[in-house]
Parts: sequence; structure tokens; C-alpha cells
Amino acid sequence: MNYRYETAKKDYTDLASGRVLYHAPGSAPFPVRLASEIFCRALALLKQDQEKKGYKIYDPCCGSGYLLTVLGFLHAGKIREIWATDYDAEILETAARNLSLLTPAGLRKREAEIREYIKKYGKPSHVDALASAKKLKSLQKQEPVKITCRQRDITKPGENPVNDANMIITDLPYGNLVSWQGHEENPINRLFENVWQALYLDNAVVVIVTDGQKLKHPQFQRVHQLKAGKRRVSFFKPLV
Ligand SMILES: C[S@@+](CC[C@H](N)C(=O)[O-])C[C@H]1O[C@@H](n2cnc3c(N)ncnc32)[C@H](O)[C@@H]1O
Repeated sequence: MNYRYETAKKDYTDLASGRVLYHAPGSAPFPVRLASEIFCRALALLKQDQEKKGYKIYDPCCGSGYLLTVLGFLHAGKIREIWATDYDAEILETAARNLSLLTPAGLRKREAEIREYIKKYGKPSHVDALASAKKLKSLQKQEPVKITCRQRDITKPGENPVNDANMIITDLPYGNLVSWQGHEENPINRLFENVWQALYLDNAVVVIVTDGQKLKHPQFQRVHQLKAGKRRVSFFKPLV
């Protein structure tokens, strides 16, 4: 694929899963360059008048929160609020720990944890991780970002805890690692219906990553798409 925004290959080692950001066993970290490219393309589809105060972003299948945390560091200035939900309560513990790194207190706690590892094991990888934590600190936003992380089955109708989101960005369950949970026959339709309720309809974009599956829903118009390897990334605007 052709990158439009992340045109140069950068070194994203500081954001590697398991270094400063926590890794959840069985999860596959989303490629950082692609995550940032997607975010920039989504941003270009939003009205810019809200940019100064920042956008509210939501991942309803957040897994370990890796994707959101990476975006929270790389695009801190553009994000004022983050919502992260997932069906799996266990993986949400990792998501909460990852997202806490976006706050000064959370990153301080992680630094202290890594210092303890250095004392205990003296491994060069822990020394490198501490250096990365220091670099990540410089990416943090001055004003605190509001973060909510909680359990939710995004296929279940009737519950709408999230309002006025500007950007929904989510990597759907697919492949061998993760599959849909819950009891809905058509989880993707339910997801579309639920995310529609979560949007600030006047200025919103929904980005869904699949393993190639083409998506459509009567409440949304697809306005853009890209393919990156096996992944298909579709950008939708809600119809009002
Ligand atoms: C591909 S993973 C997302 C990985 C995530 N982007 C990250 O950075 O770790 C898909 C996630 O969808 C979640 N999931 C499966 N069924 C769900 C449902 N009904 N409601 C909400 N989340 C669900 C899985 O628990 C899994 O964490």
C-alpha cells in the first residue's frame, strides 16, 4: 500500500509490545505505522473545527488496548478522550494498564516497575525499556486525556454507554487468535448499530479493520478504504 501520511519508515521500538507497553498473551500487536496512517486518514475525513479541543476516540473491540495506546502517544495533541471496551474482562486488565501509560502517574508507575526489574535481573532489555519510557514521557500531552475502559459486548443491543465519539477505530476479531464472542447471529450488523449510537453524528468517522472481509450497513456510507497485506481497512461516515 502507499502511505500518504506516514511516508517515511520510522523506528517504533519505543512502542513495541512488551517493552514499555504491556503485552497480552495470545494477542497480536497492530502494526504501529499502519495504525498511525489510518488515524491520519480518518482525521482528514473529520471537520477540523473540533481539532483544537481534540477528538473523542473509541475502540469497541480494544483487546489489550495496544492500538489505542499507540495512537494516544503518537497523536496525543489530537485526542481529548478515549473509550476502550471489550467482551473479555481479562484482556481489559491489560488494556487498562496500557492506557494508564498515557497519564503521568501511569508511566511513573511503569518506570518504577522496570527499575525493579533492572535491580532484580540486570537485563539490558530492561535498561532499554527504561530509556523508551523516558522517550514516551516526552510524547505525553500536557492536559490529561480522559480514559474509560470497561467490559461491553458490542454485539448486544440496548446498552449505549458511549456518546459523541468522533472516531471509532477497531480491529475486528478474526483468524485463529480471536473470534467473536457473545450470542449474536450477525455480530457485525450489531456492531454497526451500536457504534452508530455512540457517534457524534455531525462529525464522526468509523474505521473498521478486517481480514479482507468487505463490510456494508444501511446506516453507513463507505467513504474510503485501503488494503494493507491481508488487512482491509474501511472508513465509514454515519448516515443521518
Ligand atoms: C483483533 S482483537 C483486537 C486487538 C486490539 N486492537 C489490540 O490492540 O489489542 C479483537 C478483540 O475483539 C474482542 N471481541 C470479541 N467478541 C467481542 C464482542 N462481542 N464485543 C466486544 N469485543 C469482542 C476480543 O476479545 C478481542 O480482544
